[in-house]
Amino acid sequence: MGRSKRERFAIIAQKKNVIEEGKELYTTIKGNWNSFFENKHKIVLEVGCGKGDYTTGMAALFPNTNFIGTDIKGARIWKGSSIAEEKNLNNVAFLRTQIELLDQFFAPQEIDDIWITFPDPRPRDKDEKHRLTCEKFIEVYRKILKNSGTIHLKTDSDFLYDYTLDLVKSSKTIAAKNLVFTSDVYQSDLLKDHHGLTTTYERRFLAEGKKIKYLKFNL
Ligand SMILES: C[S@@+](CC[C@H](N)C(=O)[O-])C[C@H]1O[C@@H](n2cnc3c(N)ncnc32)[C@H](O)[C@@H]1O
Repeated sequence: MGRSKRERFAIIAQKKNVIEEGKELYTTIKGNWNSFFENKHKIVLEVGCGKGDYTTGMAALFPNTNFIGTDIKGARIWKGSSIAEEKNLNNVAFLRTQIELLDQFFAPQEIDDIWITFPDPRPRDKDEKHRLTCEKFIEVYRKILKNSGTIHLKTDSDFLYDYTLDLVKSSKTIAAKNLVFTSDVYQSDLLKDHHGLTTTYERRFLAEGKKIKYLKFNL
């Protein structure tokens, strides 16, 4: 039988690669991520990382880059942080918090790139503020991302893809640069950005025959 949520929460409370409320680093990590990793390497953030498939997958492929997965769900972070430990990935950390609060955990320009992997589409109008690609979230990402940094979105959702594309193309506040997009990444040259990696949700959507959409842009 699998571990209960309570057991998983108790385990991540002891893990060095998980930063969450109650640990000292939760209040001191802002601006100090390179000291935490003990190197000066680039830092890539995955928001809404779930079980952290991109974070751990990329970290194994690129040992000279640091990867941080962030999500509010502790049981999912337990999975990613356990995989990182099993594979001895010292370039991985998980931050358990609300994505709304990211600027409390990262200094300006501390992050080199951001991946948003299969966020919940939240199609009801009143839920727009919860979409991880809405203007409010992009302004949070702007606060922590390097000027040259890229935001990547991978999604199965036509709704979220169209919404994000319209927003990024039209918003003068966002003022996006270098926008590139595809409604079928598996039939696109942009597939090379993904290094053969898939996420837990992606594998489910692929099994349902859904096309995977991808876009990226700079701020
Ligand atoms: C649909 S899942 C995708 C998980 C993973 N990226 C994947 O592709 O398998 C979306 C994730 O985003 C997280 N999430 C959504 N809104 C969030 C927020 N405001 N703060 C923190 N996590 C959030 C959820 O907890 C969930 O794990």
